[in-house]
Amino acid sequence: MSTNILQGKKGIVFGALDEKSIAWKTALKIHENGGQILLTNAPIALRMGKINELAEMVNAEVISADATSNEDLEALFTGACEKLGGKLDFILHSIGMSPNVRKGRAYNNLNYDWYHKTLDISAMSFHRVMQTADKLDVMNEWGSILALTYIAAQRVFPDYSDMANAKALLESIARSYGYRFGKSKKVRVNTISQSPTNTTAGTGVPGFSAFIDYAEKMSPLGNANAEDCANYIVLMFSDLSRMVTMQNLMHDGGFSSTGITEDVVKIILDKEEN
Ligand SMILES: NC(=O)c1ccc[n+]([C@@H]2O[C@H](COP(=O)([O-])OP(=O)(O)OC[C@H]3O[C@@H](n4cnc5c(N)ncnc54)[C@H](O)[C@@H]3O)[C@@H](O)[C@H]2O)c1
Repeated sequence: MSTNILQGKKGIVFGALDEKSIAWKTALKIHENGGQILLTNAPIALRMGKINELAEMVNAEVISADATSNEDLEALFTGACEKLGGKLDFILHSIGMSPNVRKGRAYNNLNYDWYHKTLDISAMSFHRVMQTADKLDVMNEWGSILALTYIAAQRVFPDYSDMANAKALLESIARSYGYRFGKSKKVRVNTISQSPTNTTAGTGVPGFSAFIDYAEKMSPLGNANAEDCANYIVLMFSDLSRMVTMQNLMHDGGFSSTGITEDVVKIILDKEEN
């Protein structure tokens, strides 16, 4: 559905790698709803991904930035304000990577250098993004900043390994910075806790197809897909959500409030009978 609820708003979308990325679908939806975007990703992702295809579709400029580098982020924000012709109304942090998960290291056998990287890329980068935006004073009042998270921050999903810790930190950063940005600039900061979604980052988790299947059966509405998430982000960037801040917003078809479902009971009973 396309509206004009982001008309006149401009901002940065981090993390569109390919057409499966949540950030990719979000960029399309922001454009469809009248918003103006600047796209960014890590230099290696720009070389390997398809961001230029997306940039053409949404009429966006692209600036590369490693979200773990202060210098890159400073250049990104300065360049974005120049190219977009003013301060920003929204930022989407859609970034996640764990070398331990990628290389199949279990939680009781972590490589600590990689653990640092997981936390730096997947969580501290959110603080870096906000601190840089804050210091350079690039946010308009009543702006909206979002990061994407997963319920493994609250509940154990063993194969999610050190990413669970990164997500817990990410959600905590949203609250701590949300307080400051609210006071100083009326800028709201939230995380969206998304259902398991079939993307490059998602499918890197061992046993991911089981995650998706289980969550689908445990959610009264079924799993929220990337497009549903993109729509929710548009709502959160619009003025319709202006008093929502410092929240971890569950976007999961009801998964987080469900104890068990008939679907799951049936599978267990069928198994017992056979
Ligand atoms: N896919 C899921 O099941 C799921 C569920 C809940 C939350 N999320 C979260 O959604 C967000 C987006 O992931 P996705 O599923 O769209 O996968 P994706 O692989 O398409 O996106 C992850 C992005 O992070 C970027 N990135 C990695 N290191 C970076 C760095 N140093 N600097 C800048 N960018 C960097 C990658 O280039 C990529 O574009 C992540 O935070 C992820 O944890 C995903």
